Amino acid sequence: MSNYNSSYLKGWGAMYPPEELIRFVNFIPKYSNLNIQKSDVVDLGCGIGGCSWFLANNFRHILAIDNSIEALKKVPKVMSYFNINKKKITTRLMDFKNFQLDKNYNFIIDNRSLYNQSFSEFLKSFKYLKSKLNKDGLFFTSFFGKKTSIIKQSEKVNNNEYIVKRSNLKIGGRQVFVGSNTMNKYFKNNGFKICNYENILIFRDKLLVEKHVYYLKIS
Ligand SMILES: C[S@@+](CC[C@H](N)C(=O)[O-])C[C@H]1O[C@@H](n2cnc3c(N)ncnc32)[C@H](O)[C@@H]1O
Repeated sequence: MSNYNSSYLKGWGAMYPPEELIRFVNFIPKYSNLNIQKSDVVDLGCGIGGCSWFLANNFRHILAIDNSIEALKKVPKVMSYFNINKKKITTRLMDFKNFQLDKNYNFIIDNRSLYNQSFSEFLKSFKYLKSKLNKDGLFFTSFFGKKTSIIKQSEKVNNNEYIVKRSNLKIGGRQVFVGSNTMNKYFKNNGFKICNYENILIFRDKLLVEKHVYYLKIS
């Protein structure tokens, strides 16, 4: 059962992609020779489709997956708001814990979704997704770092895994907060090539948020 359902029912959810995803799409030709307009994309943990509509404007087809039925119910409205042809997107109710993609993709997008798991499940997702990425394909992933303030009010499960308390501002639940050194090592030892890395520090609701943004390839 999705942790996010009740928040989506209350109107939570982003309508727009973050600037780092827009930057990624612009920089793709620097890192890959694949033709964007002829490529299909998976949008992992798509929410209400705030990234999916933007991706649909740039790529051939979007498979948007999430384990929140309430989020997925809102995707068609967001698509029509941005005049996206509904044939360009397929939504699927799936959980990262046991999800299966029926083909390989040129591009895989995780805008702060995979981190909503235990650390071992998080790493397992990367391993699985690597097997679903085509040669010369790019995997955009963004997750939180250890400088993020809410860690201090969260219960530590292990070095990279915390139970975040639910509040008006936070969804809460089991989440990964990890340092870039740990992930750099993991990616390098598990067949990924890091094409680009951004460390983003922002204040949100007066609290510090650290984001790690990676563009990955198969090494
Ligand atoms: C922080 S939101 C990001 C939403 C979207 N990517 C965006 O940028 O607007 C995280 C999303 O991941 C989804 N999610 C969390 N855990 C999941 C899981 N185990 N399987 C599938 N989706 C999950 C949530 O329902 C939520 O929509």
